[in-house]
Amino acid sequence: MALTEKVKSYHSVDMSFLDSSCDLSFNIYYKTIFQNESRYVLFANKDPVYRDKVRLLLDAEDFTELYIDEEDLLGYFQHATESLQSFILDKEVPIEKKIARVYDLSKNVTKQFFESNTSPDILRCSDQVVELMESCISQKEFGFHALTKILEKDYYTYTHSINVGLYCMTFGVKSQLPAGDIHELGLGGMLHDIGKSAIPKEIVNKQGKLTEEEFTLIQNHTNNGEEIITELGCYGEKVLQMVGQHHEKYCGGGYHRGLKQEEISPFARICKISDVYDALTTRRSYKRALAPLEALLIMKQKMGEEFDPQFLSSFICFMGPQ
Ligand SMILES: [Fe+2]
Ligand SMILES: [Fe+2]
Repeated sequence: MALTEKVKSYHSVDMSFLDSSCDLSFNIYYKTIFQNESRYVLFANKDPVYRDKVRLLLDAEDFTELYIDEEDLLGYFQHATESLQSFILDKEVPIEKKIARVYDLSKNVTKQFFESNTSPDILRCSDQVVELMESCISQKEFGFHALTKILEKDYYTYTHSINVGLYCMTFGVKSQLPAGDIHELGLGGMLHDIGKSAIPKEIVNKQGKLTEEEFTLIQNHTNNGEEIITELGCYGEKVLQMVGQHHEKYCGGGYHRGLKQEEISPFARICKISDVYDALTTRRSYKRALAPLEALLIMKQKMGEEFDPQFLSSFICFMGPQ
């Protein structure tokens, strides 16, 4: 077993995805300390020649933490997505457990993109992740309350993105929109703040008051986002509209085009409601998380004219007890 390079290009894997009955599409490493430095040692090789050895090692379950090389992240996420597909269809597993596993995987995929400067290739997994979410949300025992139980309440751009994607999709399912639209709602919600990946992290995560210049930069994320999505070239018009128009206000005066009412895509109007709702119900260093009812009251009473009134009423209805 050869010693390999440095710490930062290795990522911890979810051990439950490493099923010894299937073939690995990535190498697995374990961590050891060598002269006070973390080193990653090859544990199992993806080469089919080593298949039997890999199975024996995984069956032995001697390790509590294993890692993969950053280059194999895409393969790992694809493997994880596939292994979750059958888990989601298992009638014996409670819906909360299913959602929690899908949420965890989506969080990892999005985090890689936002925080680790990984290539946009990672975003290719978002399609499969959205399909997993869709299978969960479409199950009849699913309700908003199941969702709110597992969503993380600490605000990070990547958890916020997943939360918004899930809210948008749930809105679509409850409104009985066509499957294609629900898929686009999930993707658009997940990617709506993607433009923030082009802004320095210190500004995105700044705790104090933003300078005027910084504020302009942040506001630019809808513009940046449109550029990123267009460049990726694999998303449709509705996703692009959600990314570019989710800060437009129904009454006008939003950014970056100052559109109003029907000029704003209905997909972006749904995204705006989900976006504000998640921002209000999550915790940040300078503010507490509001309870769902409190957030909905503020949205209705203080910000009512910013949202499509019909969509907001439906959203409030869907959030009620199931
Ligand atoms: Fe945004
Ligand atoms: Fe947002």
